[in-house]
Amino acid sequence: MSQRAPFLHAGYAAYHHRERPAEDAELAHVGPGTPCGEYLRRFWQPVVLLDELCDLPRRLRIMGEDLVAFRDKRGAIGLLELHCPHRGTSLEFGLISESGIRCCYHGWLFDVDGTILETPGEPPDSTLKGRLFHGAYPVHEHRGLVFAYMGPPDKQPEFPIFDTFDLPGHRLMARSPTLWECNWLQVKENSMDPAHLAFLHTLPGSDGFTQDLKALGEWDWMETPIGMVYIDTRRQGNQVWVRVADFILPNIHQFPPNADPMAQRNSINRPQATTWAVPIDDTQTMQIGYYRAPEGKEMRRGAGFGQDASRSYEERQRVPGDYDAQVSIHNGMARHALEHLAATDRGVIMMRNMIRRGIRAAGNGEVSTHNRNPVSTFGHDRVISGIAPAASPEEDRQLLREIARKVVTEAIRNGHPAA
Ligand code: FES
Ligand SMILES: [Fe+2]
Repeated sequence: MSQRAPFLHAGYAAYHHRERPAEDAELAHVGPGTPCGEYLRRFWQPVVLLDELCDLPRRLRIMGEDLVAFRDKRGAIGLLELHCPHRGTSLEFGLISESGIRCCYHGWLFDVDGTILETPGEPPDSTLKGRLFHGAYPVHEHRGLVFAYMGPPDKQPEFPIFDTFDLPGHRLMARSPTLWECNWLQVKENSMDPAHLAFLHTLPGSDGFTQDLKALGEWDWMETPIGMVYIDTRRQGNQVWVRVADFILPNIHQFPPNADPMAQRNSINRPQATTWAVPIDDTQTMQIGYYRAPEGKEMRRGAGFGQDASRSYEERQRVPGDYDAQVSIHNGMARHALEHLAATDRGVIMMRNMIRRGIRAAGNGEVSTHNRNPVSTFGHDRVISGIAPAASPEEDRQLLREIARKVVTEAIRNGHPAA
């Protein structure tokens, strides 16, 4: 890796920044055979909404691989390599059949597992179809999302059922994917960066505008059996608000609610969304996953403020959102050697180390996928009452940190956030 770009020690000295360091290839590259690509392929990844599979094939690009997804007339879902093994025509132009998909060019027919069912132009004694398969990946449909397993066939893990998939009184719904035109890691790092809430999301005109930067909390990060959490803890009077957000290896996050901090509530609020950052390739990422809404309440629709590139450029410049902050990092591919990480970046550093360990473990054939189903997750928020402030601001910050760590330690011990 290139040398780290130094801070400059003089004004008007940009000339001295001559080097353009390379990206961190181990974490950033996702194509077949790359270390991170192989790691991500060891987990089930959501690739498309079930609703998007209609009477036409759906072309997809996932981790640098061109694929076609479809639902045949029996209802079986297929995820095949895009290009026909005969002479390479794209199966996005194929005909969905009773069983599988038929290439438009010479009519070869492929079943959802890649079996070549028919090769109509070949002599009747041709053994092609008995011997050869087209490339296919296993899929699993869950609550409106189609997941794929793109790793080594003998290493396929059980499909993980997170405890947040079935919360009493809540409905789980697949959310339409949004396209983020940057590397997957810089999207994911945001999920362990509570500090940006206090700045980006307090800009006048933005979704979470509040002028009270004093309401800033204590931030901390802890490892969990499935990844890590950040804890954002704030005080108001004798009440302490604890927000715990999950990062679940390798590319999943769950945020608890972040509005209405000190509402009079003592109940636990589990996350409103479970989101995967699925790389399309090295410089494009799809955010896809589930929303959950309380029974009887309308589900939030659309991408949310600042969560895509749909606003005008001027509007994005005036009131930037998450999309603008994250995608613009080094033009879509972060160069870690150009950064100057600071105190609020502890979570980002922990996360990178954790992913790097996972990548290396996968390289040694030792990756651990998720625990037994249902998989315990820890994201939630709650307000704890009756906590008088400590004697000094410094002691109070210490007190908040202790409360926060206790909340997470107990949740890990119990296997869920305690009621
Ligand atoms: S290219 Fe597909 S059948 Fe010939
Ligand atoms: Fe954000």
